[in-house]
Amino acid sequence: MSIDNKEITSTEETEIQYDYIKKCREIITSKEAKLGRKLTASIVTFGCQMNFKDSEKLEGILSEIGYEIIEDEHADLVIYNTCTVRENANLKIYGRLGYLSKIKEKNPDMIIGLCGCMMQEKHVVEKIKKSYKFVDLIFGTHNIFKFAELIYEILYKNHKVYDIWDGTDKIVENLPVIRKYPFKFGVNIMFGCNNFCSYCIVPYVRGRERSRNPEEIINEIKSVVKTGVVEIMLLGQNVNSYGKTLDEPITFAQLLEKVCEIDGLKRVRFMTSHPKDLSDELIEVMARNPKICKQMHLPLQSGSDRLLKLMNRHYTKDDYLLLVKKLRDAIPDIGISTDIIVGFPSETEEDFKETLDVVKKVRYDSAFTFIYSKRSGTPAAEMEDQIPKDVIDDRFNRLLKEINEISKEKTKLLEGNVESVLIEEKNKKLDGYVTGRLSNNSVVHFKCDEERIGEIVDVRLNEAKGFYYMGEMI
Ligand code: 5AD
Ligand code: SF4
Repeated sequence: MSIDNKEITSTEETEIQYDYIKKCREIITSKEAKLGRKLTASIVTFGCQMNFKDSEKLEGILSEIGYEIIEDEHADLVIYNTCTVRENANLKIYGRLGYLSKIKEKNPDMIIGLCGCMMQEKHVVEKIKKSYKFVDLIFGTHNIFKFAELIYEILYKNHKVYDIWDGTDKIVENLPVIRKYPFKFGVNIMFGCNNFCSYCIVPYVRGRERSRNPEEIINEIKSVVKTGVVEIMLLGQNVNSYGKTLDEPITFAQLLEKVCEIDGLKRVRFMTSHPKDLSDELIEVMARNPKICKQMHLPLQSGSDRLLKLMNRHYTKDDYLLLVKKLRDAIPDIGISTDIIVGFPSETEEDFKETLDVVKKVRYDSAFTFIYSKRSGTPAAEMEDQIPKDVIDDRFNRLLKEINEISKEKTKLLEGNVESVLIEEKNKKLDGYVTGRLSNNSVVHFKCDEERIGEIVDVRLNEAKGFYYMGEMI
């Protein structure tokens, strides 16, 4: 089933979807009456912040329809929101589907759905259709706003729904969302990616870059701030190129300034930044605006100029180091984190040493390290000279050792300081303790009443424990 209404506007589309929500609610209410209990739904999310954000939208719609949202997969409706950025993310889904089929054997009315990046790959959908026949619903990343309509098709007509689009130019606003935290909120400012880094599947599964209108973003933030949100995370695959394609172009730095003007909002973060598009204007705005958190996630991927070129990253090792210097000159205590790939095709020991050299020079506060994963359809998958596993493992371990030692030393630097901390949750291990986050994104555990979750308080960082602090509220 595929209904493609490219002609209608996003506001009309929102209304259409609200209509489907209403129709679904009627069906669910009558099912509930028959069963004598509430129907439950569970969304399991894999992958990045974008997927987590999409899942909030799916949960919002399901909850409006009348489902009770639960964490457990023993539910009447289960959706896996999938990731395919690396192969093991992909394999995990097939494993988990086996487990779901067992649950469905006991509850044949259960609805199983799959969505997200993996579903934008044709060979995946073919495999699911052929070998995982118990899956009732498949949709992709471009038509997630039609979720209510797809659910209606299943509930009303009781047949399988496979609906995957190749792309979209649409941004549909104002559908319901469930907020995981009452005090912090992620806001999409753009969708898709145009960079085509040669190893990366994201541009193929998330489509071309589309920026939301600044007014829509500001209105959404204002409305959540009114309900108690104090921290906003602006989300996009490459936030530094935000606004370039809008009818009235605006830079990301200008958007940030507008966001910071919102009364009641206390903290603003953003991710992800691409080094090639990080402007001096942005650094300047960050340095002068106290609401912007002192945190920068700046993926390096490799320190070798030769590999950066093969990766299609459009910067050199020296460009990157200069950028870090500018950031640190303007914002001395900024926390810098990164993503690094080990074992890109043809990576030599010399190339790897260049990466290690950047790590030593930048001294990251934290770093996510990934073993290169071949994604079919990307240019890198066709490259010769894929690196043997034992060589990659050895480099990966050396890199991790270096990163861990540095981040341990870096946490020590703030020991004894008093920092402002947003209290985020009850501590999972220590009774009577909470966990909070510093402006630079480090985490601290301290004694405090959980009633105060969502407040920003001053905390002395008594002891650096490697990757976190033990502190005391003052
Ligand atoms: N193999 C390994 N890591 C990858 N990433 C993206 N594609 C791949 C791949 N094929 C990493 C990059 C990116 C992060 C989100 O995932 O480091 O910044
Ligand atoms: Fe992938 Fe590169 Fe786009 Fe990031 S910037 S999503 S790594 S293509």
